[in-house]
Amino acid sequence: MALLSLERVCKNFAGVQALRDVSLSVQPGERRAIIGPNGAGKTTLFNIISGELPPTSGAVHLGEREVTNLPPERMFRLGLARTFQKNSLFLELTTFENVRLAVQAHQKQGHHWFRPWWSFDSVNGRTRLVLERAGLWSRQLEPAKNLSYGEQRQLEMAIALAGEPSLLLLDEPTAGMSVAETASSVATIGALPRDLTLLIIEHDMDTVFAVADRITVLDHGQVIADGAPDDVRHDSQVRAVYLGEPE
Ligand SMILES: Nc1ncnc2c1ncn2[C@@H]1O[C@H](COP(=O)(O)OP(=O)(O)OP(=O)(O)O)[C@@H](O)[C@H]1O
Ligand SMILES: [Mg+2]
Repeated sequence: MALLSLERVCKNFAGVQALRDVSLSVQPGERRAIIGPNGAGKTTLFNIISGELPPTSGAVHLGEREVTNLPPERMFRLGLARTFQKNSLFLELTTFENVRLAVQAHQKQGHHWFRPWWSFDSVNGRTRLVLERAGLWSRQLEPAKNLSYGEQRQLEMAIALAGEPSLLLLDEPTAGMSVAETASSVATIGALPRDLTLLIIEHDMDTVFAVADRITVLDHGQVIADGAPDDVRHDSQVRAVYLGEPE
């Protein structure tokens, strides 16, 4: 049974068909890359999956449950987390505090109307674990505004992971990063729990081939290829769209 499936999803903005009959199915634990040229509809696809935008038509399922049109908070509670293409941090707060808030927000959902005696330690302990996993523990006391651009993006990923999601959507996690920061992010992504299902929008092909076990290619709002990395790499239509090669 697929963890996530989209059936013939369309999204129209005034005058623009951003998504046209997009169907896809992602298995539990899969690491799926979504690639395609600028304006192909990749972020729109994420916005529909995460409930930020309603589709014009079509359906989205999480497991057996239909989640089309559920708002982002409901999707979050069902185990979906995402990062955005643009920065969404509390810049005046420290790295630690940014993650701590996300850990606390997650624990509040657990209907604990009382505060167990261990809860304080557990929030701090969990915060540390998440920061270590994201390679940011040594930067814990730094205000987020002092982090490098790449570290800020890694902090966003840490915040998304704080909620222990089962489905994580990363929108261009290495965009604007240095070579070293990209390598560090790829390592962090590679070390994510194997049962976490990952959808990653990424322009950097080295990163895509390093992390993805399946690739979906969007072009002008349509899926033009979907398969194993090696098959997609050698697909003539993909090469034409990406590399300007004749089909
Ligand atoms: N809120 C919106 N209102 C109107 N048009 C939109 C909106 N969001 C996206 N679009 C349009 O939909 C199309 C797909 O945009 P989208 O942001 O999904 O592309 P993308 O594949 O993420 O591109 P990029 O690689 O540049 O991030 C584009 O033509 C874009 O201008
Ligand atoms: Mg985008």
